Amino acid sequence: MSDPEIPQKAPYIAKLDAGDYYWCSCGKSSKQPFCDGSHQGLDFSPIKFSLEKNQVVSLCGCKHAKKPPFCDGSHNQI
Ligand code: FES
Repeated sequence: MSDPEIPQKAPYIAKLDAGDYYWCSCGKSSKQPFCDGSHQGLDFSPIKFSLEKNQVVSLCGCKHAKKPPFCDGSHNQI
């Protein structure tokens, strides 16, 4: 499997409404941190996550989090 691109070595802090979202895992989306379909033909698939209430989240921007889509500090090791 190839390495993902790294849009930024820091999380995206976002205030999101409750609902379903697709986090970009390939790093090529122009709508970071969300999927825009750019993974087509690559070894990556977006990761779906759901929020049950409106909240602020810290979404991984380096694409190396061990349990995506949320930042776990892995960007400090890149
Ligand atoms: S931005 Fe990827 S682990 Fe923090």
